[in-house]
Amino acid sequence: MTSTVTIAHLSDLHFGGYADLKQIEALEEFLPTLQVTALVVSGDLSQRARHGEFQAAHVFMHRMRLHAPALIVPGNHDVEWWKSPFSLLGEKRKYSKYRRYYGELRPQLEVPGAIIAGAVSGYGVAFGSLTWNIRDLAVKGHLPRSETNRVKKIFAQASPELAKVLVVHHNVLAGGTGRMGLANWKSAHRRLLDTGADVILCGHDHYEGAGQIEGGLAVSTSGTHSYRQRGGRPSVFNLVTIDAQSVHIQHFRWISGDRLFIPSDKFSFARKGAPKVAVSIAGGDQGL
Ligand SMILES: [Fe+2]
Ligand SMILES: [Fe+2]
Repeated sequence: MTSTVTIAHLSDLHFGGYADLKQIEALEEFLPTLQVTALVVSGDLSQRARHGEFQAAHVFMHRMRLHAPALIVPGNHDVEWWKSPFSLLGEKRKYSKYRRYYGELRPQLEVPGAIIAGAVSGYGVAFGSLTWNIRDLAVKGHLPRSETNRVKKIFAQASPELAKVLVVHHNVLAGGTGRMGLANWKSAHRRLLDTGADVILCGHDHYEGAGQIEGGLAVSTSGTHSYRQRGGRPSVFNLVTIDAQSVHIQHFRWISGDRLFIPSDKFSFARKGAPKVAVSIAGGDQGL
């Protein structure tokens, strides 16, 4: 890996009645000053997958794309699952409105120094995320094996020099809320580690976080820019920096009185997948 990669990682914009327009305006002014390599929005662009909400998010993304290439994945709020519960009428119906505005459901983006791949975890009411909690029915996500296998293949085919960034909506860690947004998360963790990713970017909890899966795979969880923060905490977005050895996750916290985002906590994790340096020993290995 030759260059340091910086990614502005936002999530859960929730355009519609809950969007905090002061934050949106501040983001539009502040994000271009960060001069990032890429912008990622890890889902829940809308509140109810309505045209007006998607259009507002589209305008925001259009403005941001003037400054950096961007990648978006759908969240559970962006899926019209009621048009095909349990995907009985196929997957197409559920995501057709989302795709009208954002194109690819499973996008990938190559930028200098990194390959970024999106995976779908928001399916609405689906067999893969059924739980006994009725309130979780359309909220919980899951990560099918087909998704992790597909991303693993993308990363395997990419240049080893590139950092591997996986984007998914549901938080893959329990995070600050203490709840697990992914069904079958133990299996998901094993498969996520196996994809070869250096960092996972996710959201959904409306509560920021920075952590690791099994001490080896960094996870950036971004907050929300809507009024639906958890625990009355101020909104946060993350700036993720990947260099040859490490993944750094810097929180930027919203100060509503001043109408600006300021740098807050920063976490650094060693990269498990960093390319190994080949060492040759003169005179053979001497039995070692
Ligand atoms: Fe959300
Ligand atoms: Fe969500």
